[in-house]
Amino acid sequence: PFDVGAVRDVIAARRHMPGAMLPILHGIQDVIGFVPADAVPMIADALNVSRAEVHGVISFYHHFRQQPAGKHVIQVCRAEACQSVGSEALARDAEKLLGCAFHETTPDGQFTLEPVYCLGLCACGPNVVVDGELHARVGTDKLNRLLQAKRG
Ligand code: FES
Repeated sequence: PFDVGAVRDVIAARRHMPGAMLPILHGIQDVIGFVPADAVPMIADALNVSRAEVHGVISFYHHFRQQPAGKHVIQVCRAEACQSVGSEALARDAEKLLGCAFHETTPDGQFTLEPVYCLGLCACGPNVVVDGELHARVGTDKLNRLLQAKRG
């Protein structure tokens, strides 16, 4: 279940842009929070490309969600600079603390865990984004506190 009309509007507004595929996918995710499988044929028809092509672009970019996110979105930077200061260990801790893997949502629908690849704040990693808010120099304890605060 998703807002088909909203998806249709985004496609109609952006289909004539140069390189319309990415603007359309971003627009859909901005409006409804993810890119549903049923949007794929709509995009393919509008752009006159194959469904496989649309699907390929969606899976290539980590940014696009194929399912709705949980109530809170936790993003751990897994790019090089953050990796060099321990973000991979932090990523494993995040999976343990939440009990779900990257690109997954906890069974209670509270948290979605996602990787991001550089937030432009490399000097003070490991960096984590919680519901759109950037947190620098995050270790396990800080991550735990951030999650607890969201659990309320
Ligand atoms: Fe993490 Fe740049 S590598 S912010």
